[in-house]
Amino acid sequence: MAIKKSKHFFEDELIETIGEVSEEIYEQLPNNKDLNYIGKKISRYDGYEKVSGKAKYTFDIKLPNMAYAKILRSDLPNAKIKSIDISIAKNLKGVLEILTYQNIDDIDFYGENGKLLDQHVKHEGDEVACIVAESEKIAETASKLIQVQYEKLGFSTSIEQSTRDNSVKIYDWGNIRNGKPDEYERGNVEEGFLQSDFIVEDTFTTEVVIHHPTEVHCSVVNWEGDKLIIYDSTQGIFEIKKSVSEYLKISEDKVQVIKKYMGGGFGSKLEAGKYTVLAAILSKKINRPVRLAVDRKEMSLATGNRPDSIQHLKVGVKKDGTLMAMTHEAKAAVGAYPTGGGCSWPFKQIYLCPNVKTIDFSVITNTGKARPFRAPGHVQGTFGLDSIIDDAAYKIGMDPLEFRLKNYAEKDQVWGAEYTSKLLREAYKEGAEKINWERRNKVPGSGNGFKKRGIGMATQIWWGGGGPPAHANIEIKNDGSVIVYSGTQDIGTGTYTIISQVAAEILEIPIQKIEVILGDTDKTPYGPSSGGSTTAPSISPAVRDAAEKMKRKLISASAAILNVDEKELFYSLGSVSDKSKTNKLSITEIAANLKGQKLFTEGSREENLKGYVAQTFGAQFAEVEVDTLTGFVKVLKIVAAHDIGRTLNRQTLENQFHGGIIQGLGMALMEERIMDSDFGKMLNTNLHDYKIPTMLDIPEIEVIIVSEADVKANNMGVKGIGEPAIIPTPGAISNAVYNAIGVRVKSLPITPNKILKALNS
Ligand code: MOS
Repeated sequence: MAIKKSKHFFEDELIETIGEVSEEIYEQLPNNKDLNYIGKKISRYDGYEKVSGKAKYTFDIKLPNMAYAKILRSDLPNAKIKSIDISIAKNLKGVLEILTYQNIDDIDFYGENGKLLDQHVKHEGDEVACIVAESEKIAETASKLIQVQYEKLGFSTSIEQSTRDNSVKIYDWGNIRNGKPDEYERGNVEEGFLQSDFIVEDTFTTEVVIHHPTEVHCSVVNWEGDKLIIYDSTQGIFEIKKSVSEYLKISEDKVQVIKKYMGGGFGSKLEAGKYTVLAAILSKKINRPVRLAVDRKEMSLATGNRPDSIQHLKVGVKKDGTLMAMTHEAKAAVGAYPTGGGCSWPFKQIYLCPNVKTIDFSVITNTGKARPFRAPGHVQGTFGLDSIIDDAAYKIGMDPLEFRLKNYAEKDQVWGAEYTSKLLREAYKEGAEKINWERRNKVPGSGNGFKKRGIGMATQIWWGGGGPPAHANIEIKNDGSVIVYSGTQDIGTGTYTIISQVAAEILEIPIQKIEVILGDTDKTPYGPSSGGSTTAPSISPAVRDAAEKMKRKLISASAAILNVDEKELFYSLGSVSDKSKTNKLSITEIAANLKGQKLFTEGSREENLKGYVAQTFGAQFAEVEVDTLTGFVKVLKIVAAHDIGRTLNRQTLENQFHGGIIQGLGMALMEERIMDSDFGKMLNTNLHDYKIPTMLDIPEIEVIIVSEADVKANNMGVKGIGEPAIIPTPGAISNAVYNAIGVRVKSLPITPNKILKALNS
């Protein structure tokens, strides 16, 4: 192993890291059909524990003598706090301690941009105070007894309001983050448009959607002396360790973060929550463990969202279908604390085009801060892009699929790098066959009857290549049991399972023999945050590295035990033997010979190949039926055909695709944050009023993986799948609706109202 500076993409950002990388070079494993565990439909490692209710999620953790905290949040979208009186609340029986913004305003949560519990609450749901009590009920009652006098300030809750000339300014640089947009340009778009035979131009919009993972955000914290132990529902145990230690100004070594099981995050649980820090401060004050779980309303207001978008797109194309120029100008409401909300990456990357210009404005609004949400930017961006691409194809009378093939990019267009693999053509071909693309309406809306069917498609590109540093250790104990340790975390995606598969495959032993320990910063070696679809491609090569090294160690140990030369020995099916097989030692026998010692290996992710970029590709095809009397859209079928490198587990892969497609369907047809712009409050803060898809909304889903191992990506040939699954879904559904009814609904969600309005226009 060597310590190196290496590069990889985490979502749309090129990350440079310093850490140990493996320098071992392994031959790529055979294709999945010749493997025992990898690629198969292996049930979840933790399936029994989960379905039997035994699995302990952070939400379930109860420590002895634990107290319960609750946050008092602002009802107002923008206000100064003139006074705050906690005396009545403090006297309520069972109340232990109350923090107000004054107590903790030296914690700098947002850098120069604003402080925790700032005197100005900047959105409905912003933190005002935090109460800890003997029960959650008491804490909640106490929160209602805190008397806050506000001075109301003007506010804005939408892109339109924030970008008016006379709008309320929230930061000194105005309402555009950093005072300027993010821009990108290649070639010369003016010339490109001049050379075009047709120009297509339109505006597309998407709404703010909320992550709403099953398990709410929560932390249980406890101090053991000066050491802080945090049980957290998080996508990144090491990220929480780092940032909480910074907020509290204590050594990183004094923070341990533990997360065993989690009910989803989708990006909202990548960063440390204020609630975690508040719980830690209160726990220290009262010298007891503290639990702080937010509720659905708080999830709606203050734990992140996918920003909305207003995308103005323009495409210039030749008669023969050649794309000559593309421009994208988009605005996104990112909330009251600055963050990026751009959605232009697909525009720069997917289709071959020499002249491209993009401008992204991240607009500050008095609403909860946006956070990464499953393929941030790409989902809304692909909806806009693949809508205008569809329009351009119809405009020149070309099959939309043929049009996409005509503008197929062999190489990455932003850096000119080679792809480790790109099998998008294969995905187009197989997907089109499975949906039977020829059945689509050649003339949109030309079907008969009042229930009209249509077929549409969209394309996907996403990072998901992973990279170092990512580690896994393997230990063989004296009784021969095999344990894999990794500081990654299973956020519900099946990480425990795929790790056990890789270890069992390489060590050639039954999968039941593998124990997997994840998610504890004190007990497991460093792993990256589980985001950007990087977990499997970062961790599985490290597990392989540790397992391959273990095989060599087992051979060395056997050589010593048997008094023979290592070169005489080989490893097969969990045993070491010589060529004649007269001497043969199983893992258990080798371990027993070591008398109290254990065998231990450290595995690491290798560096990514220089000059290449690993990306995932795919296409989804949707078939819909639109009731033109009610405006109701029923999605009948989604075919998802993707290049994601090697499949590690066909079952967890399908779980990811089903989840992503259902989440994408929600965004396409029903999900939206509804704001009352007069009062600056969100109107649908529960799962009754905020609609997500349920069983009857879910279509037939067919998942096709066109790739075997991506041999240039890493030693396992794996790329990520969590985010690719959702990216093209809203675009494909929207294009299918257009194909069905012949008029385009340009704003998501495509509700019955919008359909009827479009049909009447
Ligand atoms: Mo994600 S948005 O990489 O969890």
